[in-house]
Amino acid sequence: MAVTIVNGLSWGDEGKGKIVDLEAKSADVVIRFSGGNNAGHSIKNEYGEFALHLVPAGIFNPDAINIIERGVVIHLPSLMGEMQELLRNPDVSFQKFKISPFAHLVMPWHIAEDQGYEKEAAQNIAGRATEAIGTTLKGIGPCYKDKAGRWEAFRVCDLVSKKAFLARLEKVYASKAKWLRARFQVELPSFDAVRTQFLGAREYVLPYIADTSHIIQEALAADKSILLEGAQGTLLDPDHGTYPNVTSSPTTALGALMITGIPSSAVRRVIGVTKAYVTRVGAGAFPTELSHELDEKLRNIGKEFGATTGRPRRCGWLDLPLLQYAVAINGTTEIALTKMDVLGQLPKVQLGTSYENGVSGAPDMTRLSEMKPAYEEFAGWGNLAGARTRADLPDEARRYLERITAICSIGHVSIGAGRTETLTM
Ligand code: IMP
Repeated sequence: MAVTIVNGLSWGDEGKGKIVDLEAKSADVVIRFSGGNNAGHSIKNEYGEFALHLVPAGIFNPDAINIIERGVVIHLPSLMGEMQELLRNPDVSFQKFKISPFAHLVMPWHIAEDQGYEKEAAQNIAGRATEAIGTTLKGIGPCYKDKAGRWEAFRVCDLVSKKAFLARLEKVYASKAKWLRARFQVELPSFDAVRTQFLGAREYVLPYIADTSHIIQEALAADKSILLEGAQGTLLDPDHGTYPNVTSSPTTALGALMITGIPSSAVRRVIGVTKAYVTRVGAGAFPTELSHELDEKLRNIGKEFGATTGRPRRCGWLDLPLLQYAVAINGTTEIALTKMDVLGQLPKVQLGTSYENGVSGAPDMTRLSEMKPAYEEFAGWGNLAGARTRADLPDEARRYLERITAICSIGHVSIGAGRTETLTM
C-alpha cells in the first residue's frame, strides 16, 4: 500500500502546497484532512498561480480523486468561491471531487466568536480572560469547540434534508445570536441573510457529498496511491504544539491517520516540509526569531506575508532542536526543504543547533519561551538558479544541508516557486 503523508514541521506556511502539487501528479487519491480556510496553500504550476484554502492541492491532477475529509471544517461560501475561481481554468475539473458528510461547517457565529475573543483579548480590557492568540479570525477554534461540544454543531450531512436543516438553523441561530449579543455586544447578519446564503451553498455542494470512508478503504484495498495533505504545522498542533498559540485540529502525521481511518501499516512515506528558515504568524514562543532589521529583510526577500490574512510573518533561523522534535513526533521519513534560494540571499546565515540553556537534542516544550539558541554560521550561498542536482549547489549550501541531514534525510530541496525549481536529492 502506498500512502504518503505531507505535513508541516514548524508553524505552518512551510511550502506544503508546492510539495503536494508535485507529489499529487502521481497520486490516485489526494485527501485534505484537517484545518479550514485558515490554511493557504500557494501553488505555481502550468495552470497558473493559486492560493488554495480548502480544495486539496491535488485538484490539478485530473485523474486523481480529491477529498475533503471529516477533520476539515468548511466555510461554505469560501469553498464555493474557491471552486468557482478554479473553474475559470478550463483544465480544472471537479468531477472527481468529494466531500465527507462528516466534515463540520463553519457558521457565521463561529467567525463572530473568534473575532469577539481576539478583539477583547487584544484590547487591554480590565479583567480580560486571556492573551490574544493571533488567530486567522476565520472561526476555526469556535467551530471545533462546537464539534467537541456536539449540541450546536452542523455537519455537511445536515444539509441533505432541507427541511430539517432549516428548522435547526433557526433554533441554533437564535441561541447563538442571544449569546453573542450578551457576551460581545455583536450582532449576527439577519437570519434571512444566513438562510439565503446556506440555501445557495447547499445546492452547490450537495452533488459532491460522498461516502469518503468507503472510497478510501477501496483505494487501500486496490493498492492505490494515496496522498494525505496536511494543513498548518506540527508546532501548531493542539496537543504537540505551542499551546495555546496553536490551531484547533491535528496537524501531525498520526493525526492524518486518525482522521482518515487509514492504518499506520499502510504508510510508506512521511514527508515533513520546512522552509530553510522558519516563520510564524500570530503570537507565541519563537526561540530563533530574528532581530527587527533582519526580520524585515528576510520577510521582504521571501515575501513572507500570510496567504490567508496578508499578515506579516515573523521570521527566524532554522531551529534544529525544534526540527528534531517535529521529525520525532511525525515519524518523518524525509524532509522537503523549501526556499533554500531565499535564505541564500542573506550575506550570513545562522542555524540554531542547540540551546544554550544546556539543552541538546529535542527541546523541553514546557520551557520553549526561555530557550536561548546557540548558532552555527554559514556564508550566504547566493543565487541557486539553474541548479538541477545536489552537485550543482555551492559548497556552503551543501554544508547547510548536511547539518539538517544529520536529523533526517532530505528528499526535495526547493529553489523557487515553480514545479521545476525543485532538486530531488
Ligand atoms: P486559527 O487556526 O485561525 O485559530 O489560528 C491559530 C494560530 O494558528 C494563529 O497563530 C494562526 O496564525 C496560526 N495559523 C492557522 N492557520 C495557519 C496557516 O495556515 N499558516 C500559518 N499559521 C496558521
